Amino acid sequence: MTTRDNLLIYLKKNKNSWVSGQAISQELAVSRAAVNKHIKTLRQKGYEIASSTKKGYFFKGVKDLLLAAEIREDLDTRIFGQQEIVFLEETDSTNRQARLRAEKSAPEGTVVAADRQSSGRGRKGRSWFSPPGLGIYVSLILRPSLAPSEAPGITLMTAVAAAEAVIAATSLPARIKWPNDILVHGKKLAGILTEISTEMDSVNYIVVGLGLNVNTSSKDLPRELQKSATSVRIETGKRHERIKIIQAFLEKFEQLYDRFDKGGFASVREEWLGLTDIVGKRAVVEKAGNKLSGVVTDIDTEGVLVLEDHEKRLHRVFSGDLILSTKK
Ligand code: BTN
Repeated sequence: MTTRDNLLIYLKKNKNSWVSGQAISQELAVSRAAVNKHIKTLRQKGYEIASSTKKGYFFKGVKDLLLAAEIREDLDTRIFGQQEIVFLEETDSTNRQARLRAEKSAPEGTVVAADRQSSGRGRKGRSWFSPPGLGIYVSLILRPSLAPSEAPGITLMTAVAAAEAVIAATSLPARIKWPNDILVHGKKLAGILTEISTEMDSVNYIVVGLGLNVNTSSKDLPRELQKSATSVRIETGKRHERIKIIQAFLEKFEQLYDRFDKGGFASVREEWLGLTDIVGKRAVVEKAGNKLSGVVTDIDTEGVLVLEDHEKRLHRVFSGDLILSTKK
């Protein structure tokens, strides 16, 4: 813990009351000048701290940033969020930043979060709408002992973590749409982008990125997303703290990842199935460039979608976009 972290903890303990510079410098065993310097940095990072020459400092809190110390506070994990947490006010893409760090041997559990992304990436070369201050844009570095063929299961497992985190933190009825979408009332709330680096027959690292619309209002959404996307704020009618959702996500993620590590996707499949509405639905999916329509009959123990066509033939679909039909 750095002096700045200790200062933050001390100020938080005394939130909404005045504390003198003298008391802080005694408590942390640093000079008054050092206290001043760290207060300045905390302000630059977004913490609201009033000061008065007579009374000292008054900590009002933080403007819901995803600062490392905030994410880590009371976080109930062993690995995720316990390694380095990189918070970037602005970056191109947290997935890209996480990959760069993974290439330089950043350990499993490293978290990269941003307040805004200028080139947020979605699946299939799409972009991810990432305005400042409104969403969660976070990527995790994993170093699992998996065969590359098992890696797609990580996306499905992450969807369970994201859906459960949303339910726990907001009470919204989040549902999973295979393979990587989190929906609320049929509209997209969050998406997951998994990127894998392999070496021979093993996984070198995986970067899992989550984009989740939290405090976006309908008018913040670009026109092309108005019909298909939603946010926690749109659905609940009020703002939510991004920190709480991110912490819930990291905790759920770690629990599921521990299970996945031992038993693969099969060990989280029941939970996945309990969070989806797609089984039994008519759908169209692209397979090898062709459009295939039928009824979703299962997601098997490997996370593969099983679709039954009108001739009752079963097709296994490993990846693609699923378009649910409104027809029964
Ligand atoms: C999708 O639904 O197409 C996946 C969207 C994933 C977006 C997240 S935001 C954080 C991370 N960084 C990125 O550039 N993309 C993912």
